[in-house]
Amino acid sequence: MRNIIMKSERKGNRFACYIYKERFAVSYEYPVFFTHAVFDKSNQLLATVIDRKKEGRRHRVLVYLDKGIVDARPRIVDEVNRYFAARAGLVEMVRRPIVIPGGEHAKNGWEGVKKVMQMIGDCRMCRQSFVIAIGGGSVLDMVGFAASLVHRGLRVIRIPSTVLAQNDAGIGVKNGMNERRQKNFVGAFAPPFAVINDFDLLRTLKVEDWTGGISEAFKVALIKDAAFFTFLCRNARRLKAGNMKAMEELITRCAVLHLDHIRRSGDPFEMGSARPLDFGHWAGHRLEMMSGNRLGHGQAVAVGIALDSCYAMLTGLISKAELKKILDAMAASGLKIWDQLLEKKDRNGRLSVLEGLAQFREHLGGRLCVTLPKSIGRKCEVNEMDEDAILEAIGLLKHYCS
Ligand SMILES: NC(=O)c1ccc[n+]([C@@H]2O[C@H](COP(=O)([O-])OP(=O)(O)OC[C@H]3O[C@@H](n4cnc5c(N)ncnc54)[C@H](O)[C@@H]3O)[C@@H](O)[C@H]2O)c1
Ligand SMILES: [Zn+2]
Repeated sequence: MRNIIMKSERKGNRFACYIYKERFAVSYEYPVFFTHAVFDKSNQLLATVIDRKKEGRRHRVLVYLDKGIVDARPRIVDEVNRYFAARAGLVEMVRRPIVIPGGEHAKNGWEGVKKVMQMIGDCRMCRQSFVIAIGGGSVLDMVGFAASLVHRGLRVIRIPSTVLAQNDAGIGVKNGMNERRQKNFVGAFAPPFAVINDFDLLRTLKVEDWTGGISEAFKVALIKDAAFFTFLCRNARRLKAGNMKAMEELITRCAVLHLDHIRRSGDPFEMGSARPLDFGHWAGHRLEMMSGNRLGHGQAVAVGIALDSCYAMLTGLISKAELKKILDAMAASGLKIWDQLLEKKDRNGRLSVLEGLAQFREHLGGRLCVTLPKSIGRKCEVNEMDEDAILEAIGLLKHYCS
């Protein structure tokens, strides 16, 4: 019992109320590495990370691998096996790597989550054991969520394998899964034990998964870092052409901005209403769901960012010239910034995409808070979005793209 701060009594002493206020702080720390060839037998990084607390024990690990990587690079399964076999004194891999389907469907519904929980139980993993998830944002979200539930959380090492997972999805503190046809309706805040970004994993990505992640870089650049935006404009064509050096710089700068936000915003677990890292996402999330996942997260967010940038211009937050720069650079980097779903109407003749705004408002607790760019590299929050202006923004974007 600590710190009695109040004792209230009603007349007649019938409703005495004693309040004990509990307050404590937990500080989180996890490293995010950028490397190459993480499973090369001579690369010590992963083993060092697993043993970074120097606990003097043989560590137990369960490895999940995104099937998208395995299809494109089948030898990775052997590479993982050989990596741990060579360090058997330090690490016990409790099973051969488990390959699970990647893509958004991985996080639709509970089936995948239950299987992972079951496996963790079957392998008798404890809270000090490691789940290593290698994959795109969807696999990381699903496996991370499942691992956060068993024993109230195992240690998770994420090895993100798409551009979007390396610069955004894989480096933060959240895990989400889709339910009730809503993006990330279910989820948990569960910071990882560590993150290892291996750029070589990106070599097998399909074009849309290479370019998709570029949208998250535009997101942070537009609201936080004008110099990074200039970098994106200058390198748009190289990025589209698959230039790895440019992509490595994009990922590193984007990831650092993202991590800085988590560290410095004062609200890493999103208790308040501001969601700067969700710029462009109210429409993006909705388009993903409306498209039945034809549009991946990055592609849908690209459209959402373009739309909100048009809206920002129409409401006087950015200039016409700035808007043109943004749309030109996004298009030049290979992002598709228009989708016909923006014009889709529901039974009542209302734009279906607007439901995304309603869902976002509901998620925030009734009061909308949408982040928009205020000139390039700075942000502002608005608590209302004008539906007529959104309609006009859609018309403007369509006109630009045609
Ligand atoms: N938790 C968070 O904070 C957070 C943040 C942003 C996004 N996300 C989530 O991340 C998901 C999107 O992640 P994504 O863009 O990585 O897409 P994804 O995970 O859906 O993967 C896209 C495709 O790439 C394949 N793939 C993965 N790695 C590959 C590789 N190296 N080579 C070949 N194919 C590979 C996958 O199998 C899949 O088919 C969304 O569900 C989004 O909501 C989560
Ligand atoms: Zn996103």
